[in-house]
Amino acid sequence: MKISVVGTGYVGLVTATCFAEMGHDVIGVDIDHEKVQRLSRGESPLFEPGLEAMLKSNLSGGRLSFTTDLSVAVQNSLFCFVAVGTPKGEDGSADLNAVLAVARSIAEHMDGYRVIVVKSTVPVGTCDLVSREVSEALAHRPGPVDFDVVSNPEFLKEGAAVEDFLRPDRVIVGVSNPRVEELMRELYSPFVRNGHPVYFMDVRSSELTKYASNALLATKISFMNMISQICDKVGADVMSVRSGVGSDRRIGMPFLYAGVGYGGSCFPKDVKALIHTGTRLGVEMGLLREVEAVNDFQKLWVLKKLRDLIGPLSGKSIALWGGAFKPDTDDIREATSLTVLDGLIGEGARVSLYDPAAMPSLREIYGDSVCFGENPYSVLAGADVLVLLTEWRVFRNPDWRKIKSLMSGTLVLDGRNQYEPSELSRHGLSWHGVGRGCYTGNP
Ligand code: UDX
Repeated sequence: MKISVVGTGYVGLVTATCFAEMGHDVIGVDIDHEKVQRLSRGESPLFEPGLEAMLKSNLSGGRLSFTTDLSVAVQNSLFCFVAVGTPKGEDGSADLNAVLAVARSIAEHMDGYRVIVVKSTVPVGTCDLVSREVSEALAHRPGPVDFDVVSNPEFLKEGAAVEDFLRPDRVIVGVSNPRVEELMRELYSPFVRNGHPVYFMDVRSSELTKYASNALLATKISFMNMISQICDKVGADVMSVRSGVGSDRRIGMPFLYAGVGYGGSCFPKDVKALIHTGTRLGVEMGLLREVEAVNDFQKLWVLKKLRDLIGPLSGKSIALWGGAFKPDTDDIREATSLTVLDGLIGEGARVSLYDPAAMPSLREIYGDSVCFGENPYSVLAGADVLVLLTEWRVFRNPDWRKIKSLMSGTLVLDGRNQYEPSELSRHGLSWHGVGRGCYTGNP
């Protein structure tokens, strides 16, 4: 089937590439000339496992192309996916300007029936706004031009985007009539053949499903972070509590890891946007406000713990492992590392940092205020403390003997509960995790 995808950010590029991989003919559209040129050469602007290889093979297979020319894309496709950004507006609501502008432009180039599929994360009611926008743009046409608007939110995770798109737990499709439901069924039929369920529902339920999913996942994390604070006070181990709680099938293990708080481009933005929607509708949104408050508090865990353990931070040498908001991505949006770096630099500490992918973006913000290393060990010379912020694989089984010999202090703050306290203790290091109050951490 013929598809165009407008916007080649995270969601758009993965959508375009994976639909091509499934055998559809796809045109990716972006206003950024340089990006389109790079994509046409098979260079992925994203750090995303498996994406570049798939991009290259579908470009050379002729199923995928990129252009800045929206008219060519719209005229050569039945499905027009909208995958442009919905940044957080000033009042916390999602900014829909880009989505509505793209909808208008699609309408201007339509020469017959099209399915306009909204893939961007948008608040409930947006597809109705898109319909209105398209109808208005078509109003001056001499004859009728028919279209449908579909909600089809994306649930992929950064770092596992290709896998998540091709092998999703579910696909959600919000439709308003049987004709377009039939077309969407055909589009997604390869998923169904591969055993991945596609749920059809009304448009508003589909729009809300995306926000409800992200808000519930964020709630699970904040809940466990709150429990971790109790664990620290009473001398319990949040890892044991997690196993006990998560083994109840009604609850489940995933997303119950206590840590240094959630970040990224979705959870913080989507929780805020849902609070905004609910409040506007007169719904009591205190639950999600607390989810946010717990997360804000948790992002300060490193700074608080450091002050408790080593006193004023001025002049102290702190080595950070990790800067991305999670492993396998170079994304630092809303990352806890930003809160930690601002605090450490603000309080006069000397900071060094290593991250396998996120250092270029961090360097742009912090320049010479942070000493960036070439590998995990190069940031440790003379450090008073080592802090793990992102659980990249490269940090998983480090050489503790070497670490002890490089550092001048002995303190390790494990913001992701990755390490075995007794092992560090054997090497003369003092370990502190999140919510693992039963371990003293003293060697
Ligand atoms: C999320 C959703 O998972 C995805 O379905 C949606 O489409 C976009 O938002 P993503 O932002 O890529 O995906 O990251 P995710 O893996 O969900 O992690 C988000 C944040 O939560 C990270 O900062 C991560 O470190 C943190 N996290 C996750 C925890 O602190 N504890 C956990 O148990 C899980």
